[in-house]
Amino acid sequence: METMPFFTREQLALRNGQDREEVWIAYKGDIYDVTKSRMWKDGKHYEHWAGQDLTGEFDDAPHTTYVFDKFRKVGRIR
Ligand code: HEM
Repeated sequence: METMPFFTREQLALRNGQDREEVWIAYKGDIYDVTKSRMWKDGKHYEHWAGQDLTGEFDDAPHTTYVFDKFRKVGRIR
């Protein structure tokens, strides 16, 4: 079983599509790479910003967690 690397919140924060090109978001401790998603262009998705743990904001979403299925999990928040 492949062990997932851990990233600090600071390392996650850099991957906001602004400081660095990568666009990462965290949900329930898992970090997903949504760089390829047009819906997360420049790290913005409606009123939500990448580079952080968005678990607490997920209640606002009109969709369920199936949206994560097609994205690569890159690691866990330390
Ligand atoms: C006001 C809140 C939000 C709205 C209105 C919203 C709306 C949407 C819509 C309409 C889609 C397309 C769904 C589809 O293709 O079936 C989507 C996709 C997605 N949403 Fe949200 N969302 C919200 C919050 C969030 C939050 C908080 C997260 C992350 C924790 C999130 C993560 C995603 C992801 C990963 C996708 C898939 C993108 C893709 O397929 O390229 N959304 N969202």
